[in-house]
Amino acid sequence: MIEFRQLSKSFGTNHVLKGIDLTIRDGEITYVIGTSGTGKSVLVKHIVGLLYPDSGRIVIDGNDVTDYSESRWREVRSNYVLVFQHSTLFDSMTLRQNVALPLRKHKGLSRRDSFERAMDFLRTVGMDEKADRMPSDVGPPERKRVAIARALTLEPDCAILDEPTTGLDVVASGNVDQMIDHLGRELNKTVIVVSHDLRSIFGVADRIIFLYNGLVRLDGPPEAFRSSDDPVVQQFIRGEPTGPMET
Ligand SMILES: Nc1ncnc2c1ncn2[C@@H]1O[C@H](COP(=O)(O)OP(=O)(O)O)[C@@H](O)[C@H]1O
Ligand SMILES: [Mg+2]
Repeated sequence: MIEFRQLSKSFGTNHVLKGIDLTIRDGEITYVIGTSGTGKSVLVKHIVGLLYPDSGRIVIDGNDVTDYSESRWREVRSNYVLVFQHSTLFDSMTLRQNVALPLRKHKGLSRRDSFERAMDFLRTVGMDEKADRMPSDVGPPERKRVAIARALTLEPDCAILDEPTTGLDVVASGNVDQMIDHLGRELNKTVIVVSHDLRSIFGVADRIIFLYNGLVRLDGPPEAFRSSDDPVVQQFIRGEPTGPMET
């Protein structure tokens, strides 16, 4: 369980998070949504110690991790998998080699076993048929899917995916959505997805956290989000721009 208590973060005069209170429960698929630039990435970076808050606390599984040192954060991070917007692959390795590498390095599999297991992970993201291509032979959306497959080999308790479907076409997005669903429902992982894409959310999310103007504007299941009579929420659902100073 991950808890934020009155978390605030500014960059100079840019007050990005203004006192965030929220709890992310184990085994749920939580979507963090909001328009571009609202602080979604900043928020999730606090969960893994890539950013430190100006004030407020972060509590993970009952431990206050707010003031953890870098080495203790590394320990925390080993339970997580993170796929950021611009995750990159090794250019000089095939897609399969990219996915097999952590299986050999961190899971101690033999070369042959790692190659076999890598195919299972590539299948999950629909990339098994291109396993022996080089990263430069496939498009950016496909590279992103392989980056996700590679991250999943570490079998984390919690996966954080920052904008996993941005730039993907409908079919590829559908594959990623299925994968998120599989992670949460079958493998019972905690999954946190950052997104500004509403297309997939309603089918997949257990819970939606809507960030707006530095605060949590709505926190609840998809039904609560859809039926909300908050005009800001309605505007977001309709895809209309929401003014930053509106309350
Ligand atoms: N390391 C940083 N230094 C300064 N400003 C930052 C940094 N990271 C993010 N910001 C600013 O914080 C705001 C929120 O950014 P971000 O969390 O990336 O938005 P998004 O919701 O699109 O993920 C933006 O105004 C961005 O410019
Ligand atoms: Mg972002």
